[in-house]
Amino acid sequence: MPCNCCEITDSAFSEAEARAELRTYRKRGPAHQTKLILEAIRALGLKHAELLDVGGGIGAIHHELLEDVVHEVTHVDASSAYLKEAREEAARRGHGEHVNFIHADFTDIASELPKADIVTLDRVVCCYPDFRRLLKASAEHSRRALAFTYPRETWYLRIAFRIGNFFQRLRKDPFRIFLHPVVEMDALLKREGFERISLRRLFVWEMACYQRV
Ligand SMILES: C[S@@+](CC[C@H](N)C(=O)[O-])C[C@H]1O[C@@H](n2cnc3c(N)ncnc32)[C@H](O)[C@@H]1O
Repeated sequence: MPCNCCEITDSAFSEAEARAELRTYRKRGPAHQTKLILEAIRALGLKHAELLDVGGGIGAIHHELLEDVVHEVTHVDASSAYLKEAREEAARRGHGEHVNFIHADFTDIASELPKADIVTLDRVVCCYPDFRRLLKASAEHSRRALAFTYPRETWYLRIAFRIGNFFQRLRKDPFRIFLHPVVEMDALLKREGFERISLRRLFVWEMACYQRV
């Protein structure tokens, strides 16, 4: 699909936002939905694993999992502002040598990347129009597990997303948020050889963790 998603996403996530998210993370730890991913991954009992974090933002997932579960990380992100904060935080924690930071739309460069044991996408599918392409490429890169969070298909989020996108159009900002069909995402991952092993819900976010069968 022709899409300048990387450029659009890059300008949607500013340096100020990225710095503010890192400050919040340092003060309060991972966000609630991120904690659900961390718990699901830790429950798998893996050690010395390789992680591919797609759209990892300030890198909360790998900052945490490098403490006990993973030893090598590839962090691909379309936002240079987030990557900058993630890199600085990784260095501050002494993890710098274990993380490969790549600035790109993951779907554009997926074929050049090696597989990993675990693939994570925390609040990423909702920023990307073509969830099939994104999830298929993510699934193909996972040897063991894939965990992701996405907005729930509820009436209040449908309204909120419509309003959000309406204001984006008014501002002439091409960035959009997407409420992708959960049933279709689930079916796609099953076709790729995964089974869902956990599903947890918050008010906005849902976390699903899949394991390769
Ligand atoms: C809402 S932020 C979430 C960041 C982080 N995962 C978190 O939960 O705090 C979405 C992130 O996904 C990234 N992103 C969206 N689509 C992407 C794609 N196709 N390839 C790489 N990164 C992508 C954005 O650049 C952004 O950093």
